[in-house]
Amino acid sequence: MFELIKDQTKNIKKIVFVTGAGISQESGIPTFRGKEGLWRNYDPMKLATIDAFYDNPKLVWEWYNERRRNILEARPNQGHKAIAELEKYAKVVVLTQNIDGLHQKAGSSEVLELHGSIIKIKCSVCDFKDEMVAGIFEIPPLCKCGNILRPDVVWFGESLPPDVWQRAMILASQCDLMIIAGTSLVVSPANTLPIYAKQNNAVLIEINPENTEMSSEMDLVIRNTGANALPKFVSLFKED
Ligand code: APR
Repeated sequence: MFELIKDQTKNIKKIVFVTGAGISQESGIPTFRGKEGLWRNYDPMKLATIDAFYDNPKLVWEWYNERRRNILEARPNQGHKAIAELEKYAKVVVLTQNIDGLHQKAGSSEVLELHGSIIKIKCSVCDFKDEMVAGIFEIPPLCKCGNILRPDVVWFGESLPPDVWQRAMILASQCDLMIIAGTSLVVSPANTLPIYAKQNNAVLIEINPENTEMSSEMDLVIRNTGANALPKFVSLFKED
C-alpha cells in the first residue's frame, strides 16, 4: 500500500494531515457530500450561512444542537488514533476542516480547526467567545451584550480565522509529507493547502475511497478508508 514511501520514512520529519468529514465517517458522523451526506438532506444555504442564521436563528441553533448531540456521543476511530500515534515517530500537525474535536480526543497534540468547533460559541456582534456550556435552554441564546450567540464555526461565505489560516499555510509550506484524508477538496481555501506543500516538494498522499478534485496531483492515492489505511501507514514507522 505505501511502497512509495517505505524507504523514505527515515527522512520524513514533518508530516501535515489535511482532514475532512470522511475521517470521522467511521465514528458515525455523516459526511457532507457523500451518499448519506448532510447536504443531500439539508440545504446548506438555509443552515450554514450568516443570512440563514439571521433569517431563522432558532432553526440554525436546533440543527447545530442536534449535530452536537451526535458528535458528543461519537468516539475517535482507528484513523484518528493512528494519526495521534504517529507523533512518536515524527512531527505531526493536523489541519482539519472538522468541527467535531475527535482528533484532539484521540490524543493529537497539534490540531488547527480551520472551520471552528461545534463545542464553541461566540457573539454575533461583540467579541465574546466561550465553550458551549450545558443548560443553554433559551434558543437562540443571548450574549450579555444583548445580541444573539452563534456556533463558533465558519459558514459558507465567511473567512477562516485569520491567525489559524496564516499558521496553516506556513505549516503546509514547510512539511515533507502531506496526507490528505477524508476530504473531497471542494471547499476553499482549505483545498489550496496541498498546493503549498507541493511548492515545498513535499510528497502528497491521498486517502479516500473515492476520487477527489485533486487526485491527479497526488504522488500516491490510497483508495481505502481512514480507519483501514492509516494504521498500516503508522506500522511503516514502527518497522524502522
Ligand atoms: N475514510 C476516508 N474518506 C472517506 C470515508 C472514510 N471512511 N468516507 C467518506 N470519505 C470521503 C468521501 O469520499 C469524500 O471525498 O470523505 C470525503 C468527504 O467529503 P465532504 O463530504 O465534501 O466533506 P469535506 O471535504 O470535509 O467538506 C469540506 O464543506 O460543508 C463544508 O464546512 C464543511 O468542513 C466542511 C467542508
